[in-house]
Amino acid sequence: MSLFDRPALRTLWCFLSPSLLLPTMAQVPRKKKRKDSALSLGGGGPVGAVKFGEAGIFLVERRMGSSRRRFLTELARKKGFRVEGQMSESVTHVVSENNSGDEVLELLEKQNGICGTEFTAALVDITWFTESMGAGKPLQLEKRHRLQDALNILAENAELSENEGPYLAFTRASSVLKSLPYNVTKMDDLKGIPNLGDHSRKLIEEILEGGTCNEVQDLIQNVRYQTLKKFTSIFGVGVKTADKWFKEGLRTLNELRASTIKFTKQQEAGLLYYEDLILPVTKVEADLIKQIIEEAVHRFLPSAIITLTGGFRRGKEYGHDVDFLITHREEGREEGLISKVISWMTAQGIILYDDITDNSYHKWKYKESETFDRFAKCFSIFKLQKMVHNLEPGRTCSHGSLAANETRGIGLAGHAGSPRHLTATAAKDKDWKAVRVDLVVAPFGQYAYALLGWTGSRLFERDLRRYAKHFEHMILNSHSLFDNKQNTFLLAATEEEIFAHLGLDYIPPQERNA
Ligand code: CTP
Ligand code: MN
Ligand code: MN
Repeated sequence: MSLFDRPALRTLWCFLSPSLLLPTMAQVPRKKKRKDSALSLGGGGPVGAVKFGEAGIFLVERRMGSSRRRFLTELARKKGFRVEGQMSESVTHVVSENNSGDEVLELLEKQNGICGTEFTAALVDITWFTESMGAGKPLQLEKRHRLQDALNILAENAELSENEGPYLAFTRASSVLKSLPYNVTKMDDLKGIPNLGDHSRKLIEEILEGGTCNEVQDLIQNVRYQTLKKFTSIFGVGVKTADKWFKEGLRTLNELRASTIKFTKQQEAGLLYYEDLILPVTKVEADLIKQIIEEAVHRFLPSAIITLTGGFRRGKEYGHDVDFLITHREEGREEGLISKVISWMTAQGIILYDDITDNSYHKWKYKESETFDRFAKCFSIFKLQKMVHNLEPGRTCSHGSLAANETRGIGLAGHAGSPRHLTATAAKDKDWKAVRVDLVVAPFGQYAYALLGWTGSRLFERDLRRYAKHFEHMILNSHSLFDNKQNTFLLAATEEEIFAHLGLDYIPPQERNA
């Protein structure tokens, strides 16, 4: 399997659209009064106390979708942001996702009857929004965001075209810009900065000079790019499959659903729960899922250790899924655990989809360099009760009662059977949310390596493994570290010990986001 067989380019929710490639603070014309605005969010969303009144946010629904828009609105309001249901004079930030600036302007004009030029609002990308959520306050608009946007779009396109070299080059360049402690306004600001290839520099120069970049503008209008991006956002669909469907003339999810394609079980689940699975998972939801898993695991193995890994361990506030690592101090006790746990949770109605792989480490020759590890694991979809972001006054999360069996009357009977009913799961007001969960079980002796391997980020892991190979002549993977010079495996009980073996200072998870 290659990097590109990854189920989907699931960074979709924080994907950077090129609306920022317009001149910042683009003039958005004034809105005429109109009652039946097609962009209206409706009044009574949950509103926390507004902390940042100066910034008024309007979320553009097109390409974002109504459920995701609603989710993001609730999230932002909870954090004290002012989110307006309709376009108005008090809106300062028009946030859109995967629309060009021109498209947003056209939409505002068509749907909100905007005309005139009496107020200014910045057309910003969803990145500004998610980063502001992460920071807990509205962020200043920086040129750097625009540059990162462009680089990320090109990186994604390279990934969709299976061009690994350019993918890494653009991803690294974007990561470098992100890490700069200052604002980039001219090419001189990038003097002596490593990891910026010629292509990236050319693009940055073009944007710094003219505000836009033709290559990126062309790309987002490109039908293949748009289609593959959409298709690979389905759980279970990689670039090869997406490309095949594209070549067969398919363009939309509904066309897929109506087609005679024979989907895998995973893809069926991906289509069935699509609307939920593209919503970001919050840290609160991750913690709730952790409690559910702890309860289930401890039923079978009371002193098993369960650790949240992946992006959440790196301190991210949102993820596309939730990753867990499970182990037990007495090696061997963890064997067979995963199927028992999944069976039990399935019986409780918590599991909507599961794909269990048994441990196959014994079959593995350590010299084989493989992308994936050989741990027992389960890629699953959980049915999570939605109390978390209902945010109804007085309705709080009561621990231990969040498993799906608490939900009377919500079974899978309605949609488990027929593959041709791969439409959005249920009504929008259903009280549960499908969430992707990865469970990995490691023997205690490999736990530190598994933890390091499953904490990510992908780019960090890749760079760390390359470093080990080229500078230390060691093979690092999620099971072990093999020293070619001494012809021996290096044991480690903690991540700190692994970094020490590699001759590196310890890098805490929060600093592994690059
Ligand atoms: N990983 C792995 N083998 C897989 C899938 C993932 O080793 N089959 C590792 C990767 O190193 C990755 C980490 O597990 O960095 C977490 O993967 P993933 O959930 O895809 O990414 P996150 O970093 O958690 O980001 P997100 O919030 O999008 O989930
Ligand atoms: Mn993850
Ligand atoms: Mn994962």
